[in-house]
Amino acid sequence: MHQLSKQVILDCKNVGKTFQRDRNSAFEALMHIDLEVTQGDFVTILGQSGGGKSTLLKLLGGFILPTSGQVLFHGVPLEGITPRIGMVFQENTLYPWLTVEQNIGFSFKVRGKAKPQYALRVQEVMEHVGLFQARNLYPHQLSGGMKQRVSIARSLAIQPDVLLLDEPFSALDIQLRRRLQKFLLGIWQETAATMVLVTHDVEEAILLGQKLIVVGGQPGQIVEAVDISSATFRDRYSRSFLTLQQHLEQVIGESSDFLEPLNSVTPITG
Ligand SMILES: Nc1ncnc2c1ncn2[C@@H]1O[C@H](COP(=O)(O)OP(=O)(O)O)[C@@H](O)[C@H]1O
Ligand SMILES: [Mg+2]
Repeated sequence: MHQLSKQVILDCKNVGKTFQRDRNSAFEALMHIDLEVTQGDFVTILGQSGGGKSTLLKLLGGFILPTSGQVLFHGVPLEGITPRIGMVFQENTLYPWLTVEQNIGFSFKVRGKAKPQYALRVQEVMEHVGLFQARNLYPHQLSGGMKQRVSIARSLAIQPDVLLLDEPFSALDIQLRRRLQKFLLGIWQETAATMVLVTHDVEEAILLGQKLIVVGGQPGQIVEAVDISSATFRDRYSRSFLTLQQHLEQVIGESSDFLEPLNSVTPITG
C-alpha cells in the first residue's frame, strides 16, 4: 500500500555544540545529537537544568549554530533565525510599551506589513487564545499566564512551520501550568501545528509530547527516546503513564550525576 511519508521539517545530523568560555577553555554542551521533527509532531525534550536543553532548542531555531554536524530546515542547513520558526521563551519577552494587540501584531509590523493586512489575523488569534477582552491592556497589567498566552499567540500569529517552546510554563503555579498545558494541546490539535517543547518536568513532558527525548550526560546527548503517541499517556493516573514517569525519573537521575551538588552556588541558566 502506498503510504505518504510525513515531511521532515527539522533534522539534526550528528550535531554538537562547544562554547568557548574564555581564551583557554571550551565547554562541550552537546554532542552526537540526531533528531528528526516531522510535520505535525509534538516533541518534548526533557532533562535536568544545565543539561543542554535550551542550547538544543536554540540550535533548532537558528539562534546559535552547531560547532559540528548540521541542523537542516526543510533539507537546507539552517544559517540563522527565520520567521518560519517561532520561539517562545520561559521569561516574559513582551514589549512593555505595547498593548496585547500591538504585541501580537508586532511581528507583522516589523516585516513592513500595513495594519489592514494583518488586523484580522491578530483578532482571530486573540479570540483563539481567549485574549480578545484583554487586547488593550499592557503587559504589566497581565497575569503570568496571560503573558505566556500572549507570547504563544504572538509566535503563532505569523503561522510558523514549527513552534519551539523553552520551558514556557515553568514560572507558573501548578494549577495555571495545567490549564496552559491543556490550552497548548488544544492549539496543537486544532491547528495541526508542529511543536518542540523543552521542560525539566517529567509529567509535562509525557502529557504534552507525542515523541519524548531525554537529554542527559556531559556533554549532553540523547539518552532516551520514547514514542508516547498512545492516548494512555494523556492520563496521568494511568498505569502506562506512571510506569514511564518512574522510568524517566530514574534515567534523568542517572544521567545527571555530573551536575553540581545542590549546596553549591551555581546560577541556574534556566
Ligand atoms: N553562551 C554560552 N557560553 C558558555 N556556556 C554556555 C552558553 N550557553 C549555555 N552554556 C552552558 O551550556 C550548558 C547547558 O546550558 P543550557 O542549554 O542552558 O541548559 P538547560 O537549558 O538544560 O538548563 C550549561 O553548562 C551552560 O552554562
Ligand atoms: Mg534552559
